Amino acid sequence: MNDQDLSVVILAAGKGTRMKSELPKVLHPIAGQPMIQHVLDTAAALDPLYTVVVTAPGADSVTQAVADACELAICTEQTEQLGTGDAVRAAEPAMSDFTGTTLVLYGDTPLLTADTLRDMCDVLNDHDVVVLGMCPEDPGAYGRLVVGEDGSLEAIVEYKDASDEQRAIELCNSGVMAVRSGQIFTLLAEVTNDNAKGEYYLTDIVAIARAKGMSCGYLEAPEEELLGVNSRVELAQAESIWQMRKRLDVMESGVTLIDPDSVYFSADTAIAADVTIQPNVWFGKGVSIASGTTIYAYSHIEGANIGENCRIGPFARLRPGSQLAGDNKIGNFVELKKATLHPGAQASHLSYLGDAEIGKNSNIGAGTITCNYDGYDKYQTIIGDDAFIGSDTALIAPVKIGDGAIVGAGSVITENVTKDALALTRANQIEKPGWANTFREKKSKKS
Ligand code: UD1
Ligand code: CA
Repeated sequence: MNDQDLSVVILAAGKGTRMKSELPKVLHPIAGQPMIQHVLDTAAALDPLYTVVVTAPGADSVTQAVADACELAICTEQTEQLGTGDAVRAAEPAMSDFTGTTLVLYGDTPLLTADTLRDMCDVLNDHDVVVLGMCPEDPGAYGRLVVGEDGSLEAIVEYKDASDEQRAIELCNSGVMAVRSGQIFTLLAEVTNDNAKGEYYLTDIVAIARAKGMSCGYLEAPEEELLGVNSRVELAQAESIWQMRKRLDVMESGVTLIDPDSVYFSADTAIAADVTIQPNVWFGKGVSIASGTTIYAYSHIEGANIGENCRIGPFARLRPGSQLAGDNKIGNFVELKKATLHPGAQASHLSYLGDAEIGKNSNIGAGTITCNYDGYDKYQTIIGDDAFIGSDTALIAPVKIGDGAIVGAGSVITENVTKDALALTRANQIEKPGWANTFREKKSKKS
């Protein structure tokens, strides 16, 4: 361990009462992923030695989400919420031997980027303490950064404790702070709660450090990156900023979005270059799309791996477990669930294919349904290569259709169909010549 090491402390013990939710605030999702996971991902990009998340007592769901998101992160409890300074101190036992740089982040500030944190660490080369500042449109009740004539940071004053003159300062405290050489706990030991809120303020360590002759600086970052989520309105704002960034990212990586603002991604959506996405498409978790594929308008896609050169939609619904090998066509009002389509297989109109495997170049006619569920259990439908399933077929699973077989339209298939056979289950057609005419004459005489 040395001075160059970095550790991250994430504060997440706040109650989040303004969310008006049973769910802890930091578990509310942005792009389908808990807020705290966004912060942990950003922290992980800096390759920290320790990542410590400070939680409220009994916040088991938060502890679980942290463990799921980041194997190396440690959770510690802040027994009582006595302020941000007290919260950081709760992390001390987990990193007592640490002598490097400690970075403090908030669990409810999910849009902060690793680039900004790296810039902050660069500024820290010239100082002992660096604070991330911002000049928000509405400085409201944020703490204010008091900067000296030499441009160094002298103190942070909390709004409630500030004079009118200090409240007029536009440069505000974002809450993000970096302290060098394992000094953060030494400084925090001197913080008292003798202030307007009766809390232990993390922000007090700036004045304490200055009094000890240490050097403090700041870096200004865009307000947008430092948006704190305290309410559902701010949650929606954060989602909107996240989506905007992702749209720009995917377009810069070679994806065409015809109407970017109408396409919604998840945190893990992976899209290759030369994919085109038409307007009004929604991606849930676990989607990957390979090159040359087009997603047509109004499609809803979740848990799907889509290969090269596929045509999906318009109005397609791909549910978890959809595996499309490539050159597949999924047309309007087709729903897939746990369905594997081998290369060239297609279902162009109005179908449900669930718990199914469809062989190479097989064609599923309009209105075909896999009847996969009997109210208790689910069953498989397996269709071979080059098969042709006529329109409006009901495949009663478990059932297998052999390679090259043809199923006549309107059939209800309950038995396996052998290779290259024709299967038909509908009644033979009968015809009564002239019947319709006789019928009409009889009816019109009556009236
Ligand atoms: C804090 C800063 C303020 C800054 C603002 C930016 C202090 C004293 N003030 O004020 O200068 O402008 O953030 O948003 O630091 N938390 C705990 N345990 C606690 C208290 C807070 O974990 O005992 C966590 C909260 O969950 C939250 C973060 O720390 O993630 C900030 O706490 P909050 O009470 O919102 O601080 P502010 O009063 O807004
Ligand atoms: Ca706050």
